[in-house]
Amino acid sequence: MSLPHRPGRTYTSRTFPVVPPIYQSTTFELDDAAYEDIQGTGGLHETWYSRFSNPTVQAAADTVAAHAGARHGMMTSSGMAAIATTLVTLLRGGDTLVASKQVYGDTNDLIERDLPRFGIEVIRIDAWDSEAWRDAIETHRPTVVYGETLSNPQLRLMDIPTVAEAAHAVGAKLVVDNTFATPFCTRPLSIGADVTIDSATKFLSGHSDVIAGVVCTDDTELLEEIQRRMITFGGSLDPHAGYLVWRGLQTFEVRLREACRTARGLAETLVDETGVLGVVYPGRDDHPDAASVAPRVMPEARGAMVTLVLDGGDERALEVIRNLRVATEATSLGGVETLASLPFNSSHFNMSSEERLAAGILPGMLRLSVGLEGEDRIREDVRQAMKAADGAG
Ligand SMILES: Cc1ncc(COP(=O)(O)O)c(C=O)c1O
Repeated sequence: MSLPHRPGRTYTSRTFPVVPPIYQSTTFELDDAAYEDIQGTGGLHETWYSRFSNPTVQAAADTVAAHAGARHGMMTSSGMAAIATTLVTLLRGGDTLVASKQVYGDTNDLIERDLPRFGIEVIRIDAWDSEAWRDAIETHRPTVVYGETLSNPQLRLMDIPTVAEAAHAVGAKLVVDNTFATPFCTRPLSIGADVTIDSATKFLSGHSDVIAGVVCTDDTELLEEIQRRMITFGGSLDPHAGYLVWRGLQTFEVRLREACRTARGLAETLVDETGVLGVVYPGRDDHPDAASVAPRVMPEARGAMVTLVLDGGDERALEVIRNLRVATEATSLGGVETLASLPFNSSHFNMSSEERLAAGILPGMLRLSVGLEGEDRIREDVRQAMKAADGAG
């Protein structure tokens, strides 16, 4: 008895599905057009092998690009894959990279430990020091300038338009990691960045259930160069993960609108609680960038990250975080659930307390990634956790 040739493989519906199908297929049937593209461009434009491109993954990339106001988006297997692939594409031995000192820990390792192995000189600048950016760029004439819109956990802003102007004056490309700010609060490409990167693991997908990254740019040639490295380094996103990112993106704007509103409310009120020394939030009037840089970089919403500075230092902060009942003590950010973490034992554990202080990371800092539980519930949770911690102490 002969079986039909792999039934289901060619099923399509005449009408379009509301939700993109998950093309969980590594490979696609080749035809003349596919061969032509493979032989012409190296296979960048046809769907033929999922490490090169995949329709479900591209649906997620195109959706991010729409939010970012970008011509092109390309998904990667993680935020780090997006960062590493982009930097290695843009830099060559003998080049100089001018980068912010305040970057995500693994980005810092990449910049300090890995890039110098390939003969790349690295100059580091405080993210918020526009004078220092300008001087370093003029003096060192880098190929690439790199920073994060919002630094962690100080939530200081990089003055993207000023840094972009200085970078372009010496022919450098400005690459911005927009993970903390998100395209809801700012579109770095529209204020001078050449490439933006997001860890889509965070706010873009928003449900703490997928690791993914994304690169956005208006520069077609550059995007293809980065895509070629994504292909050779192997940092492509799996189609099922691509679907999860796509699905999360359907609620991106409503999630962010609510989370930013809640974050602002918490930032304005938690500061009055006993045992809270201060609240760091770019929407507060006492934030050092609120009046100067923020109106140009994050004109309306100021993000969903809030950093509390608790009285009693890191020891009390540890007691407080252990007593949270609505928020969860966990690393990462950007999910529908509120997450709380302490820089001293998570994101910045490998710095000495003196180094942390010099970087503006104060004892007692507790970082909140604000979720969708509602302002009152989160505020009450922080209040009861502080009371419980004081009882324990
Ligand atoms: C600002 C920032 N950039 C990049 C990354 C890396 O993202 P991923 O974990 O998706 O590789 C992170 C992760 O926490 C981050 O916070």
